[in-house]
Amino acid sequence: MRKAFITGITGQDGSYLAEFLLSKGYKVYGMIRRSSVPKLDRILHLEKDIELISGDLMDESSLIKAIELTKPDEVYNLAAQSFVPASWEQSILTGKITGLGVTRMLEAILMVNRNIRFYQASSSEMFGNVHETPQKETTVFYPRSPYGVAKVYGHWITVNFRESYNLFACSGILFNHESPRRGLEFVTRKVSMGVAMIKMGMADKLKLGNLDAKRDWGFAGDYVEAMWMMLQQKKPDDFVIATGETRSVKELVEIAFKRVDLKWEKHIVLDKSLLRPAEVHELRGDSSKAIKQLGWKPKVTFEGLVNMMVDSDMDKLKGIDKDKIRELS
Ligand code: NAP
Ligand code: GDD
Repeated sequence: MRKAFITGITGQDGSYLAEFLLSKGYKVYGMIRRSSVPKLDRILHLEKDIELISGDLMDESSLIKAIELTKPDEVYNLAAQSFVPASWEQSILTGKITGLGVTRMLEAILMVNRNIRFYQASSSEMFGNVHETPQKETTVFYPRSPYGVAKVYGHWITVNFRESYNLFACSGILFNHESPRRGLEFVTRKVSMGVAMIKMGMADKLKLGNLDAKRDWGFAGDYVEAMWMMLQQKKPDDFVIATGETRSVKELVEIAFKRVDLKWEKHIVLDKSLLRPAEVHELRGDSSKAIKQLGWKPKVTFEGLVNMMVDSDMDKLKGIDKDKIRELS
């Protein structure tokens, strides 16, 4: 039985990847960090099928012990401080987790077993102030946030360890991917939950920042499959994973409100405090290489994704009590 070790298993991607690897017959280990309140909501349904190991990307020895204990064939490094605005508030911590954390994981692999295959969660945020459109594996990086800068470091240290030590280390440059399990602070989920709350009469307004920003949004369930495909190749390599379509935040809002027959203009409030010190205005990825070499392609459309998220949040609110809703808002 092949064994996989996932950092960031409590996150959106970690939960989908764990499900996917279980369906492929893997033994799945997930790393969780200590917190005063456990954050296992996304993986509660998998509790019996996966094994959780304590560790933190900030703590090198915990990574070494976890790799020694679990003896994985594949390591998926999904853990990160992943929220872009928080990276201005906590720029040094973001660098330590999202950037240097990758080196700690790679060093642990070097020390314990150099045959482990390694996946690094790189990001389209690295393209930032884009130098060409669409963005592909060879496009120059120009990050626009401390998060993006940290991801560029994580990307290059992965390439460097591959070239220096002949590790099977791959970097997936994934464009934005969303789902009903997306964190509530990210714009797609903020909109889907906001729309559901307004429709249910629990709120009237939704505050947003830059409506003109454009992203290449896909479905997280499709994207975790690409992570696995990268580690099944003969040779390690880096791949862009994207839909190739770009949509604005405004289009996202229009589709989400339309799903529940509401007029978005009545409910959206522009809040300047949500604008970023430096914005990534437009992203669009070119995944030709992944389509050709991995045989990967996205299945869920943008409209399908937004509708799925709105429907899911409507269902969640129907079964929730009023105090819980106040906590969410
Ligand atoms: P997410 O939902 O924010 O999950 C982040 C995970 O990292 C959580 O499990 C979190 O654990 C864990 N984590 C944070 N700091 C840690 C630390 N010091 N030690 C160990 N674990 C730590 O992120 P996601 O959307 O699933 O994304 C997965 C990865 O892909 C991230 O690296 C992200 O930067 C990258 N990425 C995401 C996208 C996207 O659109 N989703 C696109 C490109 C790249 P807690 O539950 O304890 O907080
Ligand atoms: N979060 C948020 N909240 N974003 C808003 C809002 C708001 O109220 N209003 C407008 N936006 C705009 C942001 O300015 C940004 O241009 C866009 O919506 C998307 O923001 P997020 O959903 O927060 O995602 P992101 O693109 O900054 O980062 C995500 O994708 C990256 C890949 O490109 C994260 O998942 C990163 O971890 C990931 O690497």
